[in-house]
Amino acid sequence: MVIAVDGPAASGKGTLARRLAAHYGLPALDTGLLYRMVARALLDASQPIDDPVAAAAMASRFDEAGFGEDVLRGREIGEAASVVAAFPGVRSALIERQRRFAAQEGGAVLDGRDIGTVICPDAPVKLFVTATPEVRAARRHRELAGRGEVATFAGILADIRRRDARDSGRSDAPLKAAADAVILDTSALTVEEAVAAAIDIVDRRRRV
Ligand code: DC
Repeated sequence: MVIAVDGPAASGKGTLARRLAAHYGLPALDTGLLYRMVARALLDASQPIDDPVAAAAMASRFDEAGFGEDVLRGREIGEAASVVAAFPGVRSALIERQRRFAAQEGGAVLDGRDIGTVICPDAPVKLFVTATPEVRAARRHRELAGRGEVATFAGILADIRRRDARDSGRSDAPLKAAADAVILDTSALTVEEAVAAAIDIVDRRRRV
């Protein structure tokens, strides 16, 4: 069973994808990390992140094993990842890795922005996880504070709005819910409530 989990930044989709993977015993891929790796690799090589040709070349040659998750999770890398993710050459270079992961025997859980629409359009279960920008900013604020990063709530909210606009407004594989996705708004839900709702959605889909 392939479970596609899409949604905007800090919607809770990563947590839900990990919890669904544990619940159903499936491997999980956070596809945002791939875009973050491309951005990190460009910065490490002192290359500009806004050059589509350099970014596409990096996307086809970077080594996934070369990065600890810690260096990929920072605020500045999320922003840079959103920039490189808008380049069609970067997206096409990353498609095969993601489809290969999804094609594993038994299935997989993938989370990102275009899993249900582009990477796995035939996934039997698609979730689109969302929450208001203010709730997402508050979550990201707590997460960054936990990692020792200093940032204001207003600054993070501005980041989230800018990323939403870039991720939804790009012409190639923009962030949007697949027509057959179930929308899960986590604004008023605790993590445990959101996990229970997601499991319920998957179980219902599996029965039809
Ligand atoms: O989910 P995230 O915040 O780690 O993703 C970082 C950026 O990568 C995000 O702003 C947009 C991009 N991304 C994408 O375009 N497609 C995906 N499947 C996953 C992430």
